[in-house]
Parts: sequence; C-alpha cells; structure tokens
Amino acid sequence: MCGIFGCILKTGNAASAIHKGLKKLEYRGYDSVGIATLQEDRLFIKKDTGKIDNVHAIHNLDDLPGGLGIGHTRWATHGAPYQVNAHPHTDCNNTIALVHNGIIENFAELKTELEELGHTFKSKTDTEVIAHLIEEELKRTDLSLVDAVRETVKQLDGSYALAIISVKEPDKIICARKESPLVLGVGKDSIYVASDIPAFLSETNKSVVIEDGEIIILNHSGYEIRKIDSWKEITREPKTINWAPEMAEKQGYPHFMLKEIHEQPLRLRNTLRLQNQYLELMTTFLDRAGEVFLVACGTSYHACLAASYMFSKLSFLATHPVIASEFVEQHGKSVNIDSTLLVVSQSGETADTLDAVESARLRAATVLGLTNIVGSTLTRVARVYICQQSGPEIGVAATKTFTSQLSVLTQLAIRLAKKRGKISHVEIEEIEEKLEQIPDIVESTIQHQEEKVKQLAKKYKGKQAFFFLGRGLSSAVALEGRLKLMEIAYIPSLAYPAGESKHGPISLIEQGFPVIFICPNDSTRKAIISNIMEMKARGASIIAIIEKGDKEIKKLADDYIEIDTELPEVLSPIPFVTPLQLFAYYMALECKRDPDMPRNLAKSVTVK
Ligand code: F6R
Repeated sequence: MCGIFGCILKTGNAASAIHKGLKKLEYRGYDSVGIATLQEDRLFIKKDTGKIDNVHAIHNLDDLPGGLGIGHTRWATHGAPYQVNAHPHTDCNNTIALVHNGIIENFAELKTELEELGHTFKSKTDTEVIAHLIEEELKRTDLSLVDAVRETVKQLDGSYALAIISVKEPDKIICARKESPLVLGVGKDSIYVASDIPAFLSETNKSVVIEDGEIIILNHSGYEIRKIDSWKEITREPKTINWAPEMAEKQGYPHFMLKEIHEQPLRLRNTLRLQNQYLELMTTFLDRAGEVFLVACGTSYHACLAASYMFSKLSFLATHPVIASEFVEQHGKSVNIDSTLLVVSQSGETADTLDAVESARLRAATVLGLTNIVGSTLTRVARVYICQQSGPEIGVAATKTFTSQLSVLTQLAIRLAKKRGKISHVEIEEIEEKLEQIPDIVESTIQHQEEKVKQLAKKYKGKQAFFFLGRGLSSAVALEGRLKLMEIAYIPSLAYPAGESKHGPISLIEQGFPVIFICPNDSTRKAIISNIMEMKARGASIIAIIEKGDKEIKKLADDYIEIDTELPEVLSPIPFVTPLQLFAYYMALECKRDPDMPRNLAKSVTVK
C-alpha cells in the first residue's frame, strides 16, 4: 500500500513531474514522501515524514536536478513513519535508489545474511534489503543493473512493485512487479511508471499494464518488458485511456469525497449501460453454481451483504456473504469445484480479497469478479469480470464505487430472476423501470436534502457515539453509514440489524443518544417502527431516513431526511445510503477532519 511514480523526460525537471504524480497517488498512503533523481552520475534524494504538501513546504521537492527519477508516497507497514524509513531507499554506497509498494515476507532472513556480509542498514523497512541485494549482485558479478534486479527479485518472497535507479546506469529505470499494481504511461517525449493511471493521466493517456512476474527497462527510447523467469521479451502496445485528466481532479469541490458523492447519478447511469454479454455470462455461472459466496472487504462487503438479500428475494438464490479476511478460515476447506465466488473489490487489489481468491482457485472453485479497475489483479484471476464503471475514486472512503457495485449486483439479481422465472414479469418490469430512475432519485436526494444533512451535522456534532439501525436490506445500509461516519469523522458508532438491538446494544441508550434508522417503505417498516418506539422510550434522539410522505415515522422522529420516491424494496439501498454518505462528510468537516485522507487508512489495502 503506497504509491510509486517514476519518469524519464527528454526535457524538463523530473522532480516536479514526480511531485505532481505523487499528489495524485497520495490516496494510497500519506505518512511520508520521497523523491530521488539522477544527474551526471550523481544521485539526489529528498524525503521526510508527513503529507506531500507539508514535506514540500519544508524541503521544496521540486528542487532536485535531472530529467530522470523516482518517488514514493508511503503507508507504513514495516518501520514507523520516520524519515529514515521513508522511500527511496539506498544501498551502502548510495549508488542505487529504489521505491517499493508491497511487502517482502522474508526480509528478516535476507537482512541477517546481508549484515553478515557487511551491509549496513539505515532503516527498519523490509524494502531496504532490496537495495542491498542489488548492490551485492552487482558486487559479486559484472551483471548489468537489470540482471542484478532480476537475480534479486528471484530471492524475494512477498509482493512488490519496484522502480530502481542507479548512478552506474543513469539513463534507465528498472521496474518489476509481483502482486502490487504497476502501469506505464507512454508520452511523446517522456515515459512514466506509476501505481495507478491518474498519476500520469494529465501528461499522457497511453498506458501499458504490467503483469505479475514481469521486469521492465525504461529509457529515453521507450520500454522493454520481459518475463522474470524465462527472460522472454513481451510485446505489449499502449492502450488509450478515455478518462479525461480532469475526471481525476476535484472539479471545484472542496474534497474528492464530496465530488464523488455528487458524481453518483452520472456513474450510476454508466453502470446501467453495462455490456449485456458480461452480465449474461456471469448470471449463467451463478445459476449453475452449487454454492455461491459473495466475498469482499469493508464497503465492498456491505455491497455483498445487500446483494445476498437481492439474490434471495428476486432470484431465490441462497448466497453466503463472507468478509474476505475470514474466508479461508471459515470456508477454505469446504470450497470445491462446485463453489462459485463472486468477488467484489473496487480496486481489484485488496490483499485479503485476493488471498481468498487464491485459496478458492487452488480448490478449483470458479471466481467471478466485480471491480472498478480494469487490469487489476482481480480482472486477471477471475474467470469472468465486470467493470463497474465508477471512474477513478480518489477519496479514501468508498462512495460512488459502493453505489455502482450495488447497481451491478442488482442487475445480476434481476437477470437471474428472469432466467429462473421465479417472480412475475410484471414485478420484474416494475423493478427494471425503477432501476433506470435510480440515478435521478439520487440526484434529487442530493439536491433537496444536502442542506438539511449539513444542518443535522451541525446539530449532532458534539455527540460521542451513534447507532445505525435497519432491517433486511437496510441492515447493510446501516453498516455502511456507520463505517463512513467512523472512518472519516472518527466517531465511534455501532450498526446492527434493528431486531438485534434489543439483545444487548440497547443498554447503551440514554437520554439524547442519537440513533439513525433506515426506514424504506418495505416489508420491514412495521417492525422498524416498533424498534423506533423502543429506542424513543429510553430517551434516544431519533434520526430517520424515510420515503417522502411517511407521516407516521416523521411524527416519531426528532429529525428526518426524505427520499423522493416510492421504491421496490430491493432498490432502496442506493438512494438511502446517499444521505448517510453526506452526513459522514459534513460530520467530518464539523469535527475538523480531512475527509479525503482519514488517518491510518489508505485507498487500496494491499497488505494482509
Ligand atoms: C471504506 C473503504 C474500504 C474498502 C475496502 C475494500 O470506505 O473504502 O472499507 O471498501 O478496503 O476495498 P476494495 O473494494 O478496493 O477491495
């Protein structure tokens, strides 16, 4: 989990290009930053702890000479976020510099061996061993830099995306990839390497995805890709990326999170334009599966939880939603050739999720993927995958990717319902018609309710804790609303299926304790009204998310947010989660938090 960026420019200053690229990657980690450049056989490095802007204010990251260099924005795994642990890391003689995203599992053994050979380590990171291993390879033989890197990565267990430079061969950057993302950007007079496409999108929209087990040599004349094992050269032409650079910018919003919440109607419209053949193929796999697991982490898991209700209600398919990090322990031994995993990961790179996939694949299970990133590891290991079409999401908290996931999963459940003939055509047509309207409903919810949500955040900002309750599908919405509030406003919160609240959590309730109820007008409404009464009787402050015109709940609630339309029950999660995303955002602002960069978190969690 970290962002890496490197470039070779025919003209101009590499350091400022790297600085700019790293800013776009800051969502991947931001506890320290560093840049190394080469000029006339000399290596120049600046690095320190803190967010990029703070480090730049102290050190001027643009002030490094040369047209070639590498940079890194870090999310600490091994070694605390101190200056010495910031990347780039160097060998004993400061002739090699490298940046790394991933984890080297056998670094302790390697470090001991290298220390016995006389190497001195400056940091506590796993990464530094790589610099010393390359130094050792170069010392022991007369290998070129790329050969030394190749021999080095063969000794590494774990994951890596690497960019390496050396004063001995100052015209190139060597990169390698295993299980951590790496893409090239190919400009007219420049070449880039980065963890993610938005990092270089303002410079070029020609991109080449690097696969696991590949090594790349970048120089002024272009790129050469080879297989690490066989040394076979790979020909891979750049693909054109259609994201406009400004799509990855804030477009006038104060934060990416707010921009991404507002972008949901547009994204949901895209998600409704998915290619039929992929939906159809995936539906066929689900229909034939002996058992179906819905596997994901965090917000993506909440989409899976909601989907389990949709598959059951619409297509009469029982599914098991499973938190990816628990999958191997819970189901690892029973998964078999008849099992199907529908794996949901917006990044397609979440280590826990990929771990579950790997274990299931080893037992011959079928893996289907839903992700936002084409070229991600999930798209390469899945039998079939669907791209959810959310566009790049920069805010660390998932918002638009969540609602797009819900939309795709709903479409799958509807298709399966049609295939299985379990519910009437009339009912399916009504759901399909409303699904088409969801983007408009979300748009009008944002337009009409945002100001009210803002006021609610002002009213409730002093509260120490919140409760989120929903029933049925809305229990997934409750969990998601609570995750958003906790992760960006740092307010401890609980979420439960409302029926479960009286089995323990209700003891927390005292005068003024805020409880947020998700109350669509569906089969759970009567029961949720009873739950509201129970909480009210004990002094809770009730905030209800209701369908417009629900007079009964309006009377019971201290505050309410109205969703503009009547919905078939399977469609309620998307519009009902929108005010909760806004609530978390405005609470974060009230609490003086940075909603785009919550502490201790990163956008793509590529460690287990
Ligand atoms: C929360 C959030 C995380 C991710 C989780 C899985 O806002 O973003 O909980 O949902 O880390 O990430 P993906 O979907 O990339 O596998």
